[in-house]
Amino acid sequence: MKIAVLPGDGIGPEIIAQAIRVLQKLGLPLQLQNAPVGGAGYEASGDPLPAATLKAAKEADAVLFGAVGDPRYDSLPRAKRPEQAILGLRKELGLFANLRPARVHPELAAASSLKPEVVSGLDLLIVRELTGDIYFGEPKGIRQVGETREGFDTMRYSEPEVRRIARVAFEAARKRSKRVCSVDKANVLETSQLWREVVTDEARAFSDVETTHMYVDNCAMQLVRNPKQFDVIVTGNMFGDILSDEASMLTGSIGMLPSASLDARGKGLYEPIHGTAPDIAGKGVANPLATILSAALMLRHSLGQPGAAERVEGAVSRVLRSGLRTADIHTPATRKVGTKEMGDAVLAAL
Ligand code: IPM
Ligand code: MG
Repeated sequence: MKIAVLPGDGIGPEIIAQAIRVLQKLGLPLQLQNAPVGGAGYEASGDPLPAATLKAAKEADAVLFGAVGDPRYDSLPRAKRPEQAILGLRKELGLFANLRPARVHPELAAASSLKPEVVSGLDLLIVRELTGDIYFGEPKGIRQVGETREGFDTMRYSEPEVRRIARVAFEAARKRSKRVCSVDKANVLETSQLWREVVTDEARAFSDVETTHMYVDNCAMQLVRNPKQFDVIVTGNMFGDILSDEASMLTGSIGMLPSASLDARGKGLYEPIHGTAPDIAGKGVANPLATILSAALMLRHSLGQPGAAERVEGAVSRVLRSGLRTADIHTPATRKVGTKEMGDAVLAAL
């Protein structure tokens, strides 16, 4: 099993190192190939997504990704900025289906900023479309109009793009509580009008799944009012970006949320949903669990190793139960540990 390992910037290398230790402990025939990406790619070859890195990602069975971005590169032209690396990988590899599960580990209910009774037992899945929408729509740019400049982007979705992501959501729901809530802004946007029509039509093939629709502003509110009403949320790229950060805080910390980005055949890129956290980079305090849980998703969805995935997830649960916490999820009466100690604990639990 060939895995391209792209640690990236900020805390990326620290958290990826722990996930690699966990993978290596499993005794599977894994072939790991490291490659620079993001700011690290720019430093190595003047391009956030070097050709050799893209090649390694294309040739691998799966990609394990840390995070990209660094304020140092904020003034570079857009094409050279670290974020272009992850956007380019998603587009080039056709990774249209982004699964972002938000599950509250019982031990962490108190770490959420919401009341424990609102979040305990929460288990929701955000299915975010990842290769379309205003992220990739053309035309986009900044142009001179008379005396002044204006910035513009294009929100667009084609019918097949909506249909295939809806299908991913319905199929995922079949393995869960059989409920899909499609989130859009159909009261204002034409793109959302089409989105809603296509999801409604696709729902007919999944009559065993209950389908509802919700406007994105209401969804943002409902997620903090009563998040347990949701099972699967399916939405576009932009709304999914925002709602998944919001959902992560229900679980106690953005440092806990893994994600899978899949193509039509199950090849995937796996990454924590958090960013590079430049403020704590290099300090050895970042939470590696979202990355370790992303590696578990990789074992399940791309490497055909559901048993190994469960072992890793079980080990993470036992470590949390034993009271170890990185700074982001630390509460009184638990023991604060650093990145490597958290990795050590997961290895021991395995
Ligand atoms: C995410 C991130 C990315 C996105 C950035 C880094 C381009 O926020 O994966 O959610 O906006 O998709
Ligand atoms: Mg985001």
